[in-house]
Amino acid sequence: MRKLLGDHVLQRLQQDTEGKLHQRLCRCLRAAIIEGVVQPKTRLPASRDLAKEIQVSRNTVLSAYEQLQAEGYLEARTGQGTWVSEQLPEVFLNTAQEKQLRPLSRSKQSVELSLRGSQLIGHASASPHQWGAFVPGVPDVTEFPHHIFSRIQTRLSREPDYQHLIYSSAGGSSELRSALTDYLRVARSVQCDTDQIIITEGIHQAIDLVSRALSDIGDRVWIEDPAYWGMRNTLRINGLDIHALPVDQDGIIPQLTPNQPPKLIFVTPSHQYPLGSHLSLARRKQLLKIARTYKSWIVEDDYDSEFRFSGQPYPSLQGLEIDAPVIYMGTFSKTIYPALRIGYLVVPKALIHSFRILATELYRGGHLIEQKALAEFIREGHYEAHIRRMRLLYAKRRAYLVELIERYLGQDFLHEFNDTAGLHLVMKLPQHCDDVAVSSLALERGVKVRPLSQYYMQSHAHAQRGLLIGFACVNEKDMLMAFGTLLQCLKENGL
Ligand SMILES: Cc1ncc(COP(=O)(O)O)c(C=O)c1O
Repeated sequence: MRKLLGDHVLQRLQQDTEGKLHQRLCRCLRAAIIEGVVQPKTRLPASRDLAKEIQVSRNTVLSAYEQLQAEGYLEARTGQGTWVSEQLPEVFLNTAQEKQLRPLSRSKQSVELSLRGSQLIGHASASPHQWGAFVPGVPDVTEFPHHIFSRIQTRLSREPDYQHLIYSSAGGSSELRSALTDYLRVARSVQCDTDQIIITEGIHQAIDLVSRALSDIGDRVWIEDPAYWGMRNTLRINGLDIHALPVDQDGIIPQLTPNQPPKLIFVTPSHQYPLGSHLSLARRKQLLKIARTYKSWIVEDDYDSEFRFSGQPYPSLQGLEIDAPVIYMGTFSKTIYPALRIGYLVVPKALIHSFRILATELYRGGHLIEQKALAEFIREGHYEAHIRRMRLLYAKRRAYLVELIERYLGQDFLHEFNDTAGLHLVMKLPQHCDDVAVSSLALERGVKVRPLSQYYMQSHAHAQRGLLIGFACVNEKDMLMAFGTLLQCLKENGL
């Protein structure tokens, strides 16, 4: 229990970087109480123990405990330590009378947010640190040929067609959808016509659209365990019953309960995120069979398949069978840059009409000049040339990182599912090594790795310990320095 709270608080402290440390700690603890990570009537760790566990001073913990006592979340019992109150302020505040009596005693956050909003905040995982050694999943955005892309954009913006300045109701720019159709057919073996493509603001939005369009609150969905936290959070706020299924070297292991089949099955077949295996042909067929039998939809997240450094790319699951019950999602976040916020869905023909209406109703759609510019960028061959160049660069950086791990730690530290692909790799740690504490210490020293255990949904105790290390946005010289720092942090955490 104490360990879980410590891990939880450490992770949140990494994300909540505003204000003084005791205020940040107070917010983290309050959120942990609101979302039920620590239940009412639970004894909290002694201030000295928690301070040691999360590596802050005891005064910082005392000050956070005192603030939460004043707010009514905690009670100090003489000689028995600090306890989570039996009745949280939220309970009182559900009555109109209390709303009038105590408006100033509650934090702004808990007054304004819905339950699902506060729960999502409790699970928030997006890091404010998005650049440098070793941020996972971020491409080297400085290498993009900005001069070419901005030349196209400038030309299009000078005398824009009115069509590109009004609300979109067609699922995005027709030029981009057409360029993508040809690209996806050749590069990813996706079977589609242009009208099956819907442009989104990245895969995040695509997940939101798919889950709202095809499932209702309480419906069962399958995801991989471990998985991308962004996927989990989007499904959470949509109220879905998330079943996280284990993965092995062949990808997700389906575990069907026939009376509760999944509505949606989210998978990363080409490059399991974050472990790196790919979905075997047998499992692909198994999933397709389940989906056809139970009328489920498979949602294929093909987020980084352009970056495979040896062998042939694995073709998409969507293209494996005619009329496969698969919705395909892709993004330009890894191949161009994340802030572009352009991704796409390829939906089966039967869904085209309803998805277009839903996308328009929910998001309206815009950025059409950027989308048209991107279409020209693709048509003129710059996109594939950039991918080819980046593939070579990332392959070199990855090889160097592997060499560092092998030289200083040994081959056993490389996760066995790591494929020579993607923008990050997973470094395995022994189970006794606290990956959350290592990441937190490394962050304090300017090195941004992410703890593998936090990508699991199932019991934290069973989660594999390790670190996600991004190699794409760091050159070899900086990598060496950062790796030295990381080694020191590992040593200080008992490795
Ligand atoms: C597995 C996976 N899917 C989707 C995304 C998000 O893509 P987008 O930036 O298009 O929302 C990420 C981002 O890191 C990812 O790792």
